[in-house]
Amino acid sequence: MDLQPYYLPAAIAGHILAAVIWVGGMFFAYTALRPAAAKLLEAPQRLKLWRKSLASFFFWVWICIIALPATGYWIIFAHYGGMARVHWHVHVMQVIGIIMILIFLHVFFVPYMRLRKTVKQENFQVASEHLAQIRKSVGINLFLGIIVLIVAGGLRYSPM
Ligand code: HEM
Repeated sequence: MDLQPYYLPAAIAGHILAAVIWVGGMFFAYTALRPAAAKLLEAPQRLKLWRKSLASFFFWVWICIIALPATGYWIIFAHYGGMARVHWHVHVMQVIGIIMILIFLHVFFVPYMRLRKTVKQENFQVASEHLAQIRKSVGINLFLGIIVLIVAGGLRYSPM
């Protein structure tokens, strides 16, 4: 059986799944979990909840940040035949995608690692500061993710 005709649909499906999991997860965290946790939980419980839930979510984000460029660049080089041949929306997606990945790497290795450490030490005052830093960066990434989805999903069909 010749599987070659299925490579492109599989790459696009993997790419879109990764985008939906990453941006959808941030949307849920930002718009639903954050206000509920802030309203219902005291600092120690709230910070432990974030520490645990971010650990699970970030596992999936790692898979997404590997899958998005892997499938994206495969589509560019194997299907379109190189960067010079793609529509401008792909260039915008690539630049914003790389910025999003760098922001995630910063969040993971700096404030999230510090949040883990300070929650473990039960230093909740300092842990709150690291959580606030994560919230700001995730807010920026959510905004960028929505822009990319508009650019990738909608502007692809624009006459420009
Ligand atoms: C290094 C980063 C990325 C590269 C190189 C890349 C590349 C690509 C390419 C080549 C396509 C196919 C476009 C077409 O056939 O017209 C695509 C589609 C798409 N990308 Fe990306 N992408 C990247 C990051 C992202 C990110 C971060 C998101 C969202 C969070 C995203 C969301 C999408 C969506 C929703 C589509 C489907 C558009 C469609 O075919 O209708 N991409 N991407």
